[in-house]
Amino acid sequence: MPLIQLSITDFRCLASAEFLPGPANNLIFGANASGKTSLLEAIAYLGRGRSFRGASTSGLIRHGSSAFVLVGKIGKGGRTRTVGVRNSRDGLELQIDGDRGAGAADLAEALPLQLIDPDIHNLVAGGPDERRRYLDWMAFHVEPGYLEAWRRLRRALKQRNAALRGGAGSKELLGWDKEFCAAASDVDRGRERVLDTAIPVLKRTGAALLGGSVDFEYRRGWSGEGELRDALAAGLERDRLQGLTQHGPHRADLRLVYDERQARKLVSRGQQKLLSCSMVLAATEVVQVRLGRPLLLLLDDPAAELDGASLGRLMAAVAALNCQVIATALDPDVPLFDESPTLFHVEQGALKAAP
Ligand SMILES: Nc1ncnc2c1ncn2[C@@H]1O[C@H](COP(=O)(O)OP(=O)(O)OP(=O)(O)O)[C@@H](O)[C@H]1O
Ligand SMILES: [Mg+2]
Repeated sequence: MPLIQLSITDFRCLASAEFLPGPANNLIFGANASGKTSLLEAIAYLGRGRSFRGASTSGLIRHGSSAFVLVGKIGKGGRTRTVGVRNSRDGLELQIDGDRGAGAADLAEALPLQLIDPDIHNLVAGGPDERRRYLDWMAFHVEPGYLEAWRRLRRALKQRNAALRGGAGSKELLGWDKEFCAAASDVDRGRERVLDTAIPVLKRTGAALLGGSVDFEYRRGWSGEGELRDALAAGLERDRLQGLTQHGPHRADLRLVYDERQARKLVSRGQQKLLSCSMVLAATEVVQVRLGRPLLLLLDDPAAELDGASLGRLMAAVAALNCQVIATALDPDVPLFDESPTLFHVEQGALKAAP
């Protein structure tokens, strides 16, 4: 279900904007600092309830204002959903179709989206947090019950860490371990299952974008072939010293093997971007197939760091997804799409549909 309308009030440099994207390819163009990334960030916020740049609320509210408001319409024909987000220094309020009890997971369900921006290379070049988030996003959309297992895991981890720091005895810790291991097993299984589907897609997309063989290896977050409870027992003294649980799915990673070398260290920045993009596009495909409807793909300055041939391969892979695309560029003539996209122009925080 596409995003068909977004009203923005006081979000970064956008005082008031009405955005009516088309269901296929959209291009927002404008000079540096005109507000292109701000517009994409507003869209992403509507689907995630947080900033993709990790910006604080006060950084997102337009200077001089006390709150930002985003209201989006998602859907087609008679079946539309209205999603509202209001964020002020007093906190975040979310609403879906008038229901004020909505949470960030409900936003993600209403508007599943992926994003490629100039920092995307960090998905392969950075630490494992982003890759775990990536894995969790896929599992959340594909594996029934995953969110609940993930929440149980987070709760149990918090309790176990608190018990470690509080100097709990072995018996008390064993009690926490039981709940932690049960949730860990559900999370791990969900990740394994989604990767069974995703890895072939990842390999195919990576090969299409890079022209070399790409492989992925899932590390579940504890060493060896054994059970998590054995790893916890073996690491107990260290866990006690650090007041932290060293083993478990919160330490999982999705390692990339590119031409049999560690991609993070040896590939160029443009290649890191292509590898990361192939991960994003593969996840979009997997979730799209599962949900049976097109997703939303946000592309902030996709041409950055890429030569013409690489950009062509990236955009061909994007076109093959047939999803809703909202891209930004400095120039409306940038060769991103085969057919002319729906054009929008931003100038000093003002958005206009271009003729
Ligand atoms: N909270 C805020 N209030 C007002 N203005 C802001 C706020 N946050 C950012 N800005 C300003 O918004 C302007 C537009 O930023 P944005 O990143 O959207 O530009 P852009 O069009 O993506 O530029 P580029 O082509 O350089 O990527 C910048 O001048 C920035 O300083
Ligand atoms: Mg920008």
